[in-house]
Amino acid sequence: MATIIVNGARREVQAPNDTPLLYVLRNDLELSGPQFGCGLAQCGACSVLLDGKEIRSCITPLSSAAGKEVTTLEGLPARWAQQKSLSKAEAEKTLHPIQDAWIEEQTPLCGFCQNGMMIKATELLERVAKPTVAEIKEAFTTSGPSAHLCRCGSYTAIIEAVQRAATVMGKGR
Ligand code: FES
Ligand code: FES
Repeated sequence: MATIIVNGARREVQAPNDTPLLYVLRNDLELSGPQFGCGLAQCGACSVLLDGKEIRSCITPLSSAAGKEVTTLEGLPARWAQQKSLSKAEAEKTLHPIQDAWIEEQTPLCGFCQNGMMIKATELLERVAKPTVAEIKEAFTTSGPSAHLCRCGSYTAIIEAVQRAATVMGKGR
């Protein structure tokens, strides 16, 4: 049992402390953004932000998230709205620029991996305002426990979507 803060809300979770955070998010909290791909920290489909850092929720026990802030794909719009101090009315009709860029670039193919791709992009662009192509590739390949894998080969579109989102997110910085 643990208290975690998920997308800005405190949630009391009754699951055992060694339950993978992914199971808690999907089964207990009904958040279907994070996906079960490999279950071994090898693909990135299950990624979420934990205190702003991308983690693989399939191998992260619930106890590791206790008292920390978890952001899932579902929480990205509110995260952006808070960062930009948007009004409630504005926030309700605003996606995160990364989500907008993913739509504009028509990035997903089957879509299964894209949760992790957008979470990774969020972590990167909150840290580096205008990453180079090399920095984008590094973020998605060697910076974490494994590369983020896309069986459909959407990698080029991901780079373009990250660059598009960086332009929007960088405005006013
Ligand atoms: S499902 Fe977690 S990294 Fe693949
Ligand atoms: S879009 Fe199908 S696995 Fe990436």
